[in-house]
Order: sequence, then C-alpha cells, then structure tokens
Amino acid sequence: MAIRISRCSNTYDARNYRLISRYIFLFYSDFFFVSWILVRALWHFHYQKNPIPQRIVHGTTIEIMWTILPSIILMFIAIPSFALLYSMDEVVVDPAITIKAIGHQWYWTYEYSDYNSSDEQSLTFDSYTIPEDDPELGQSRLLEVDNRVVVPEKTHLRIIVTPADVPHSWAVPSLGVKCDAVPGRLNQTSISVQREGVYYGQCSEICGTNHAFMRAPGNIGRLLSPLWLSRTTP
Ligand code: CUA
Repeated sequence: MAIRISRCSNTYDARNYRLISRYIFLFYSDFFFVSWILVRALWHFHYQKNPIPQRIVHGTTIEIMWTILPSIILMFIAIPSFALLYSMDEVVVDPAITIKAIGHQWYWTYEYSDYNSSDEQSLTFDSYTIPEDDPELGQSRLLEVDNRVVVPEKTHLRIIVTPADVPHSWAVPSLGVKCDAVPGRLNQTSISVQREGVYYGQCSEICGTNHAFMRAPGNIGRLLSPLWLSRTTP
C-alpha cells in the first residue's frame, strides 16, 4: 500500500502569532484611516457647507496614484501572507524525537523508533483509558490512561498519526494539536511542549462505541537524555 505523508497544522507557533498580530495592526490602521477620510468628506462636502459643488470629473494624476499605490500595498501584504501560509504548513525538519501514534478501536498504540539501530522491534506500547470504576485516588475520571506518552519538554517532537482500523484523530487541545488518523496515510504534525505536566487529549473522530474512551495524554517530563526512554516507558 502506498503511504503518503501529509501535514497537520500546529496552531501554537510563535511566528504565526507575530504575523497574525501584524495583520491585526494593518486591519485597525486601515479601518481608522478610511473612516477618517469618509467622515471628513461627509463633513466638508455637506450640501449646507458646500452648496455649489465643483465640476471635476477626472484627474489623471490622482487616478494613476490610486491605482498604483494600492497594488504596491497589496504586494507588501502578500509577502508576510505567503510567509504565514507556508510557515503554517511547516513541520520541524529535524525533530529530536519522532513518536508514532496508531489509533485502534479503542486505544492508542505508541511507537518510539528513533533509537533503533537496525530492524529490531521498536519500543511499542498500548495506552488504554482507565475505566470509570478503576481510577486511583487523585486520578481524573475517564481522563487517565494506563501508559502515558512521556516526552521531554522544550524539544522539537514529531508526531506521526495513523490508524490500524477506522479513522481516528489524535488531539491534545492544550498543545494545540489535532491530527486526523486516516487509514492508509501517515499524517504528521510537530509539537514543542513548553511546560512540564500532564496533558490530556482524546480521540476527535467518531470511531465507534468507545470513541469517548480513547484518551491521548502526554506526560511531559524534564528528562532530556536518551536514557529517559528506558526509564519511563514500559
Ligand atoms: Cu478513535 Cu474516536
């Protein structure tokens, strides 16, 4: 089966925020400038203030100006616009760790293959939601899983998402990630976790009876050496 790699966008990108705030600035400055011209024209050219209007029908100079100036402005807007467009599509080129999340009815399987030297079986484990009547004291109801994904903080991570049966979706809202798992495809997205903690997620594609019990949390640790893998995952 041919497998294509496509991308899921990551909304929590600092560069995108800077570009979006630039657009907000452009929006407001344009809005106030145009409003000012409009109000000023209405004020000065009101029929009571200006009873005999001038009979100018065209002016070549100003017409050339108001054709060329906006097109120059549009060109300048296009530059950050394309930068935004392509940066939203960008997946980290050289991630420190790649994690493969495989959706099953109804649990996630995770694979860490970065530390394989040859063809050996990669580090793989299943992650099931802890059933409603099973949580330990302090655990959130239907949010905890038996095996968490453990990743280091402040590190570029690549998440590859695919299902083994029906479509699922790997979503961790607090990390700004929602990536569809589509049969026959490998979708990829990148995250960089800024703070230590437990991040809860869930399957976001109606995938059958236990769709609501497909949690996808990550446990973000401060461990940065490759050793953390053997210590923190089963
Ligand atoms: Cu898997 Cu919904």
